[in-house]
Amino acid sequence: VIWIIIFGVLIVLFGFVVVFGAPYVPSHRRDVRKLFDYLKLGAEDLLVDAGSGDGRVLREAGKRSARAIGYEINPILVIISRLASHKYPRVSTEFANFWHIQLPKSTTIVYIFSTRKDRRKLISKMQRETDRLGRPLKLACYGNPLGERKPDKALGAYTLYTFHPLHPVKAQV
Ligand SMILES: C[S@@+](CC[C@H](N)C(=O)[O-])C[C@H]1O[C@@H](n2cnc3c(N)ncnc32)[C@H](O)[C@@H]1O
Repeated sequence: VIWIIIFGVLIVLFGFVVVFGAPYVPSHRRDVRKLFDYLKLGAEDLLVDAGSGDGRVLREAGKRSARAIGYEINPILVIISRLASHKYPRVSTEFANFWHIQLPKSTTIVYIFSTRKDRRKLISKMQRETDRLGRPLKLACYGNPLGERKPDKALGAYTLYTFHPLHPVKAQV
């Protein structure tokens, strides 16, 4: 009976996330490295992984001395990510729904394993946050690109975008 309960809890934790975003499928490290080489990711960057899974993207950023914050809605993956990343002082994982957080002030790039269904939501979220921060933000989509929006570049499995402030909201920064 205990195994049925454990199995049930795991199914619920890993299954229910599709309501909020992408299910758990990790990025290929090779792809992540290629992206970070292209971006010349370094100590002056703060990368946000929107749905950070086991934290592998965060750790690749950490290896390049970048600051990296992951937001993850599955508590089991939050624990795994925190344990696996403990050697990286500039990496952290928050138990949170990405759609409800405000990006940290010094964010330079948002990484997301993007789904087709959340395209519009992602565009509005990025635009809102760019307006709030009052400066450009980069977005790297792994998988599904943002439809009609014009990318800066397609790089293997990634499509890269830059959002520019359209309606800056000074008071909320
Ligand atoms: C496709 S996996 C990608 C994991 C990691 N970014 C990587 O590339 O290896 C997507 C992750 O996002 C999490 N997730 C889905 N919706 C979310 C949301 N609204 N807020 C935070 N995490 C979410 C899932 O639990 C899953 O671990």
